[in-house]
Amino acid sequence: MAYFDFDSYLKKHNIVLSPRSKKFCKLGLKRMSKSIDPIHNHLHVLCLLDNFGSLMRNERGLLKQDVDYNVLLISIIWHDIWKSKRFPKGVFKLVWDQLYEGRGSAKIAAAEMEKAGFPKQTIKKVAYAIRQHSVVHKKRKTIESKILKDVDELARWNVARIKFAGRHLFSNKILSNKLLKAGKFYVNWFIGSARPKKLYFGWSRREFMKLKKVWLSQANVLYKKYSKLLNHKP
Ligand SMILES: [Fe+2]
Ligand SMILES: [Fe+2]
Repeated sequence: MAYFDFDSYLKKHNIVLSPRSKKFCKLGLKRMSKSIDPIHNHLHVLCLLDNFGSLMRNERGLLKQDVDYNVLLISIIWHDIWKSKRFPKGVFKLVWDQLYEGRGSAKIAAAEMEKAGFPKQTIKKVAYAIRQHSVVHKKRKTIESKILKDVDELARWNVARIKFAGRHLFSNKILSNKLLKAGKFYVNWFIGSARPKKLYFGWSRREFMKLKKVWLSQANVLYKKYSKLLNHKP
């Protein structure tokens, strides 16, 4: 994580965190850098942080809202901590992970925040935002949960992320035809059907349209490339 300077990020975006939150965010980044899931690691979190920077720059209305940056940044950094500890290798596990991830990460983050001595109210707000980032969610009520949803949704369309995952899985001999098919299933059911109207900010919806098109065509190229490599008989 030496290449990412969290303090500079905060300074650049005029974000002031409490010393406890800052320390906890850094701990989350460190944990995510050890993720065994190449799709949900520190690079994914950095992408969300980057998206949040762009959202703040481009969405004027956001400045008028009362955002709790301590809650938001902890939620962004810890939102996929449950997924970082596991790697689903089939369709069933993949679907289960999609359904449970919000609760799973919220539980871990809340337990760690309690250990770190955060006030109950802050823990509750973070757990709520994290729980609601999942496909299983109620109407998102807090501004932090809405922002997390938008920046996470946009991070799906990061082409570098799937290229990295493909390379990582193939070179470590984790990629199989079964896994590739599970990936295609995920793209068809969870990604291909994603619509921008579910996002909360105008800038996010515009970005979504630009990124999704490029991402889907790249995913298709990668799918063909790896199924050829996997089925190549020397
Ligand atoms: Fe997630
Ligand atoms: Fe995520």
